[in-house]
Amino acid sequence: MTTTAPVPTYDEDIYADEALLEPYEHYRRLRDLGPAVWLQRHGAYAVTRYADVKAVLADGETFNSANGIALNEPANSAILGCTLASDGELHAHLRQVVAHRLTARSLRPMKDLVTEKADELVEILVARGSFDAITDLARALPLSVVPDFIGWPQEGREHLLRWAGANFDSFGPVNERVEKALPQCGEMAAFGAEIVRTGNVLPGSLGASVLEARDRGEVTTEQTMMLMLDYLAPSLDTTISAVGSAIWLFGQYPDQWDLVRNDPGLVPNAVNEVVRFESPISSFGRLVTRDTEIDGVPIPAGSRVVVNYASANRDERKWDRPDEFDVTRRDAVHQLGFGFGEHGCAGQALARMESESLLTALARSVTRFHLGEPERALNNLIRSLGALPVTVETAG
Ligand code: HEM
Repeated sequence: MTTTAPVPTYDEDIYADEALLEPYEHYRRLRDLGPAVWLQRHGAYAVTRYADVKAVLADGETFNSANGIALNEPANSAILGCTLASDGELHAHLRQVVAHRLTARSLRPMKDLVTEKADELVEILVARGSFDAITDLARALPLSVVPDFIGWPQEGREHLLRWAGANFDSFGPVNERVEKALPQCGEMAAFGAEIVRTGNVLPGSLGASVLEARDRGEVTTEQTMMLMLDYLAPSLDTTISAVGSAIWLFGQYPDQWDLVRNDPGLVPNAVNEVVRFESPISSFGRLVTRDTEIDGVPIPAGSRVVVNYASANRDERKWDRPDEFDVTRRDAVHQLGFGFGEHGCAGQALARMESESLLTALARSVTRFHLGEPERALNNLIRSLGALPVTVETAG
């Protein structure tokens, strides 16, 4: 006879403003309640422990993305068939169409450009002494390199941040943020469709490769439209979140900044630790395709699960001192902030390059970050600051 554990439940809204502002105590309670917890407000199971999150992400057949990864049906219908919301052969094919543009090796020429832009930006900001770490630093670098890399035309770039934020907001449970976001996602999709119709992408870009694949008959026009947004939509807020959180954390923990300054070789590990400690994307959903269980908790076919990377990254069952920010943490590389398995982040080499270039440039001249009052930007999925005034101290 098999025994199954009772299903624990949680009735707080983990997408309410207060919960988004202070999510970690909710995550801790969810982890303590059990391996899978029924979220009464959202009609889905939360998976919040490291080992379970990893196991769910590794089993894409049972915990499937092809019916969407959002917690509401309008958003799921809108993204069906895109890279994030496909599986099996289709998913592998969609990834393969652009994969060659995003490997660390093919991004090598990009590295010089990103380093140069990061160095220039940091020089200007350090000379100013005081700046906003979000608008002037964290947003400035991705906006100056990513749209060109994707091949987005100059027209319409002023909407990119709003659209990218709406994309992540739209994946939440039905709430005001979703209602506001969905029409904006529609605007982004219409703009993407227009780009595909007119072929108006920058030559040599990722977008140009996608159009070439369509011309060779490798992808349909509809898939081309989706691919055009698949890489743009997650490429901005995520990196902005990581860079903004890095400055916020190094301002609070100057001893950690001293470690990085004294050994810039620590920068890649510091980026992993930032992504572990303040995971830019809290979670994505999956649809359960057959009756199953998560560590003994029964989960019926047809259920939605919320796979919480941010909670896994603070799980005391996995991490030693999970609530301590420690750039020397040996296992920081095992953080799940970029996901895991077949849907693991396709753009992480670029995101790492941008974040590492900025921190390396800052480590050369900044000895201290003095923080002003931070302002959170609330989003259903993205953990980010909207403003962070900072004054920097330099050695000279
Ligand atoms: C710090 C920055 C970033 C973080 C934390 C991040 C995080 C993630 C996560 C957690 C997933 C997993 C989705 C899932 O499990 O369903 C993902 C997927 C993805 N990311 Fe990122 N991302 C970042 C930057 C980027 C950038 C810069 C790009 C594009 C240039 C990008 C493109 C993608 C794409 C296309 C997918 C879908 C992969 C698939 O479904 O096969 N990401 N990302």
